[in-house]
Amino acid sequence: MSKNFDVVVIGAGPGGYVAAIRAAQLGFSTACVDSWKTAKGTPAPGGTCTNIGCIPSKALLQSSEFFAHAGHGFAEHGIGVQGLQLDLARMLARKEKVVAQNNDGILYLFKKNKVSFFNATATLREASADGCRIAIGGAPEETLIARNLIIATGSDARALPLAPFDEKQILSNDGALSIPEVPKRLGIIGAGVIGLEMGSVWRRLGSEVTILEALPAFLGTVDGQMAREAQKQFTKQGLKIETGVSIKAVTKGAAVTVDYQDAGAAAKQLVVDKLIVSIGRVPNTEGLGAAAVGLALDERGFITVDDECRTNLPGVWAIGDVVRGPMLAHKAEEEGVAVAERIAGQHPHVNFNTIPWVIYTSPEIAWVGQSEEALKAAGRAYRAGSFPFAANGRARALGDTTGFAKVIADAATDEVLGVHIIGPSASELIAEAVMAMEFRASSEDIARICHAHPSLSESTKEAALAVDKRALNF
Ligand code: NAI
Repeated sequence: MSKNFDVVVIGAGPGGYVAAIRAAQLGFSTACVDSWKTAKGTPAPGGTCTNIGCIPSKALLQSSEFFAHAGHGFAEHGIGVQGLQLDLARMLARKEKVVAQNNDGILYLFKKNKVSFFNATATLREASADGCRIAIGGAPEETLIARNLIIATGSDARALPLAPFDEKQILSNDGALSIPEVPKRLGIIGAGVIGLEMGSVWRRLGSEVTILEALPAFLGTVDGQMAREAQKQFTKQGLKIETGVSIKAVTKGAAVTVDYQDAGAAAKQLVVDKLIVSIGRVPNTEGLGAAAVGLALDERGFITVDDECRTNLPGVWAIGDVVRGPMLAHKAEEEGVAVAERIAGQHPHVNFNTIPWVIYTSPEIAWVGQSEEALKAAGRAYRAGSFPFAANGRARALGDTTGFAKVIADAATDEVLGVHIIGPSASELIAEAVMAMEFRASSEDIARICHAHPSLSESTKEAALAVDKRALNF
């Protein structure tokens, strides 16, 4: 049996499901195919982000932060907490509930937008100028015929060859979100986004956390001033971070033993109850049938696309983690919308220079655009202004004065080239900076905009004023 669609999207992660909704909004008959199921076997659209990534990690970050506040943050507010207890099973169940709400939300959006959803694995059978034939299982095999195909199959955790995931002792992002008991000793390989976020969750819940990072510098791609502040704060929180290490062996027994060489080439050993491996992700094209239809992949397994997400096959597009560029949910969403609009003959543009980055630790770390180091390396003259949250009235009232906001602007034109924020609600504050950069604002533009008082956002305004050495409150 076969069904015809104007647009078929493979993958219902943030890139895929948003692409399907946009295609349907544009009047196309649209289907979305995704194989993810809950433990009970019901559909679980939303991909890694919804099921074992962005959403559940934020649920646990919030719960663990409340726990940490109740443990030692409330006293200075005059709130005494006695008999504080951790009910981890309930915390994990709440996280699952948040995930389920998001799964259901996507199913509702599909229905509302008349997107046909198939909870199945899609395999490419044939691609021609007339369209693609996609098998989605069943007996007899069911086939979708797509005039346009958008592949949004995402990525999987990259395993360390020395330590394959078993999700019991050696955990990917999946297992790291569901440890049934707080491990006394938790090891993490890779001090990237997942390592820091998961390390923060379990540290706040009581684990001794050690993070081993291969690169010599901590958060080496992040603005240096911000990376140094982050390292200082994480160390204060008790996260042990060793950089410049080389992992030599990982042995499983009652505990997990990691043999490694430290930055000074000394042989060292770390013994932990659980080990999270968070060393990046690999594109997921497994089972897709790329070779059978001649879909081109690059040497690292990413689907090859041009600047507008066209693959080498006519009418076949690919977006999100399975193609080049940052592996971020919001980048995938932007590409998904843009591709749907291109299919409709429109001319959208995704601006890679204004994609925000956020690490949801405490303090939160967020940035957009270029760092001081990158500008120096490029030989571009700039002026930078910083403003500490310690000088912001709202942050003082909040009791969270760590970090700063920094605005970097071109020395000649004053155009904003980068904004770097580490501190309370940085993930929300960065949106103003993204907007400013998207409209090619100058630092003076930000400085002249009226910001509510008292608000954390005044720190961005003050940092913009500081570019011209005229901050008012510092
Ligand atoms: P990542 O790329 O952020 O960090 C991986 C880290 O592991 C790097 O610092 C790398 O130098 C290190 N590493 C690599 N091989 C190593 C080895 N053999 N030994 C020790 N260290 C090693 O990757 P991560 O944290 O796994 O996250 C995967 C993806 O998911 C990233 O692209 C990230 O952007 C995305 N993500 C985004 C989030 C957000 O936006 N808040 C949250 C979680 C993940």
